[in-house]
Amino acid sequence: MSEPKTFKEGLEDVIAGESSITDVNGTEGKLIFRGYDIHDLALNSTFEEIVFLLWNDDLPNRSQLEALGDELDANRTVPAEAMRLIKQFPAGAPPMDLLRTAVSLLAFYDPDTGDNSIPANRRKAVRLTAQMGTLVAALARLSMDRPIIEPVSGKSTAWNFLYMLTGDEPDHIAEHALDVALVLHADHELNASTFAARVAVGTLSDMYSGVTAALGALAGPLHGGANVEVMHMLEQIGDPREADRFVEDALASGRKLMGIGHRVYKTLDPRAVSLRYMSRQLAESSGNRKWYDISEAVEGAAEKALAAKGKSTLKANVDFFSASVYHVLGIPTEFFTPVFAVSRISGLTAHILEQLGNNKLIRPRAIYTGPESRKVMPLVHRG
Ligand code: ACO
Repeated sequence: MSEPKTFKEGLEDVIAGESSITDVNGTEGKLIFRGYDIHDLALNSTFEEIVFLLWNDDLPNRSQLEALGDELDANRTVPAEAMRLIKQFPAGAPPMDLLRTAVSLLAFYDPDTGDNSIPANRRKAVRLTAQMGTLVAALARLSMDRPIIEPVSGKSTAWNFLYMLTGDEPDHIAEHALDVALVLHADHELNASTFAARVAVGTLSDMYSGVTAALGALAGPLHGGANVEVMHMLEQIGDPREADRFVEDALASGRKLMGIGHRVYKTLDPRAVSLRYMSRQLAESSGNRKWYDISEAVEGAAEKALAAKGKSTLKANVDFFSASVYHVLGIPTEFFTPVFAVSRISGLTAHILEQLGNNKLIRPRAIYTGPESRKVMPLVHRG
């Protein structure tokens, strides 16, 4: 076979596999899970239905949904020995580092860790998905020096997460807002973290290694970490009237506007449409419009300034309005990216199951650009 001669920087637009889970249409701004449009799913289904959809071919019927709910309920509690170790993690460590390490150590306490069969991987997918919210809420409570709260049976992932985080039973508005956010973040084709997961398990390593690799990739500010940076930006701006000046200064000094732009979408990210709507609704129902108003002002200012630079395809992405939504829900800013993971674990495990269902090692090539034909000078002659 001839040596490869071309490459695309950042693998932009490169097709790296087949998948029947999620389709992203970047020119039309469409996101489809197994044939269902994300707006339809956000309006008419819950996060638990999406989990079933991503792991299977279709949405669940009532009894399938109840069975999944029972499985999640039975697995939400993190093993006591794992929690004992998690409590010893260093105070003040970055939340995504804490979460990545916590997920990695869960492998020690899962009886199926060494088993890569489909039924064992299905059981691990349930445990990881059920426990991600418990872990994130526990890590947030530990960071606030507050006692950990146990999950409650018969409640949704969104309800349980808010309850375990705050200690208060969430009202329907808060539960629904987080549930929709979880639906919107559940999967997104071969994004960086999902690709990392597929690369890791493509070696026939285990699901915990795949998710740990994915969480490392998700943490970065160009990917899932952007939602934290968006909140910092909104706080720095502080007033909608300052949005134009902030945007102009950022662009003039070559800084990126966080929560803006996307590798695939060349129009508005459809998830941003739903999250903008939800952010406004939460602002109105909570009586706290500040963060929505600043977000909207920054979005408008960015659109205008970027269009003037010939970059009108750069629009708000999923992280832009999720920041104000999470803030109004009382989630501490540094835990925004872990909350992304509470949802994305469903897509990650779906992709790991799909990868292992028809596995081929993922191992691309590079064009060598280093020096040629050198001879080793013995160390004694190298000075
Ligand atoms: N603000 C200002 N300019 C931008 C932005 C932005 N947010 N995003 C891209 N650009 C500009 C770049 O400076 C570059 O300009 P140039 O051609 O004059 O050098 C051009 O647009 C192309 O940008 P790249 O970074 O090369 O595009 P890429 O496809 O590699 O990156 C990315 C996509 C990482 C999302 C980028 O738009 C970005 O950094 N956005 C901000 C971070 C962010 O919000 N990330 C979350 C993405 S969604 C998710 O992962 C969950």
